[in-house]
Amino acid sequence: MITDTIKKICCIGAGYVGGPTMAVIAQKCPDIEVTVVDINARRIEAWNDDDLNKLPIYEPGLKEVVAEARGRNLFFSTDIEKGIREAEMIFISVNTPTKTYGKGKGMAADLVYVERCARQIAEVAKEDKIIVEKSTLPVRTAQAIKSILDDAGNGVRYQILSNPEFLSEGTAINDLHNADRVLIGGDGSTVEGQAAMDALTKIYERWMPREKILQTNVWSSELSKLIANAFLAQRVSSINAVSALCEKTGANVEEVAKAVGADKRIGDKFLKASPGFGGSCFKKDILNLVYICRSLNLDEVADYWEQVIMINDYQKHRFTDKIISTMYDTVTDKKITFFGWAFKKDTNDTRESAAIYVADKLLEDKANIHVYDPKVSETQIFKDIFDLDTRPHEETKKALKVSKNPYEAADKAHAIAILTEWDEFKTYDWQRIYENMQKPAFLFDGRNIVDARELKDTGFKVYQIGK
Ligand code: NAD
Ligand code: UGA
Repeated sequence: MITDTIKKICCIGAGYVGGPTMAVIAQKCPDIEVTVVDINARRIEAWNDDDLNKLPIYEPGLKEVVAEARGRNLFFSTDIEKGIREAEMIFISVNTPTKTYGKGKGMAADLVYVERCARQIAEVAKEDKIIVEKSTLPVRTAQAIKSILDDAGNGVRYQILSNPEFLSEGTAINDLHNADRVLIGGDGSTVEGQAAMDALTKIYERWMPREKILQTNVWSSELSKLIANAFLAQRVSSINAVSALCEKTGANVEEVAKAVGADKRIGDKFLKASPGFGGSCFKKDILNLVYICRSLNLDEVADYWEQVIMINDYQKHRFTDKIISTMYDTVTDKKITFFGWAFKKDTNDTRESAAIYVADKLLEDKANIHVYDPKVSETQIFKDIFDLDTRPHEETKKALKVSKNPYEAADKAHAIAILTEWDEFKTYDWQRIYENMQKPAFLFDGRNIVDARELKDTGFKVYQIGK
């Protein structure tokens, strides 16, 4: 029997989505026991660390939420079977990266982790359950999950819901507390399907106004998530394309964004030019969308969305080329300091960060890179470059350095490149930085966050994107 009053939830996947999302559900619903399980024992250990500064991910406000709920009704565990067995509702929040092999390589979403979850649930479950897709999945994945579960032949009945997550990293807790909408896709044509949707709705209703909780069919829900990310990424690529045009015409991308965004139909959000969008999802989700379109013989639609990625790659190269050409067409043996490595501020996540690709290209041109990022570890920075597999590790180790202090990182540098928009960069003693740099001292502000006029007065040669 599917019950509409959920008492126990299990979430498979304790990552950037599973961790914060479940922490907030536990915070808002103290009477529901929430267990987050993962195969990664180190990650679970970190979630359980007494020192809240050691949680596996950095998110403003997360520590406080975990402190409130952990041990009360929020648990982190590696006992996946127990979690599955005891829960009435199971969220699947595992990673869905781009496939790196076989059919759909480089485009399609790799569903191996999701399928493993479904098979494990099918094996372990003894009572009826609601399965919630939290991961971002290709449209119609619910069908595959349902088929695996229903064919287990043990009489357990399942309802599959799609409940995609729209949080952004760096603002995850605020996004979860004050979501623009919660999307719940299910089978509203059956009594059981509707009951499952209502059970999940009831959970979100504890803190979300009912009118913000949208119930749709499963396919609309799955597809809406991919489309929401495609639209967001498209805006960034649009403004980045415009930034190139601005640089050639004397227009200023910030002024253009303000003027264009003032139109309520367009809106002023997500119009910041940058060295290219990063993050674990925009690229993979658009590639997946393109793959789905091609599989359905919608080549023109696929081409349209593919351009969003192409402009993003162009922007990363354009920023790197600008650095090299401005520095007299050679960066060989020059020290270039990176302020920022994370893909955006207020996160320690570096997945697909533009910084990685800009650094790789500059290393290719024999520059020495010194990185300072307030939250990203040295190990992660090296791993990001090693993972590209562009050159022997020894070579990278000679040319790449990481500092814990921005002034030290910039000492005797020929240039500084701002890759992430961390607020602290605005408050630095730039006079001091300038004095300790080689001259001419170049500053490439990929995020348009410094006061260019003031820094030009200090003596810097400043380049800002789209200006
Ligand atoms: P993540 O890599 O941080 O976390 C996924 C976790 O799942 C990992 O800890 C991994 O060990 C675990 N896992 C994988 N297979 C497992 C299994 N069979 N059993 C138990 N644990 C398993 O990924 P994430 O960033 O949290 O993203 C998860 C999903 O949410 C993706 O589909 C992503 O597209 C989507 N999403 C992410 C964000 C974001 O901001 N990161 C936002 C919205 C949606
Ligand atoms: C994005 C979406 O905003 C979330 O709604 C979604 O849930 C999530 O992807 C996901 O599915 O993973 P996230 O990647 O965490 O969230 O961060 P964003 O704020 O969207 O930024 C993505 C990238 O675009 C960053 O590199 C950021 O610097 C860049 N960006 C963003 C710009 O260059 N300009 C902008 O105006 C906005």
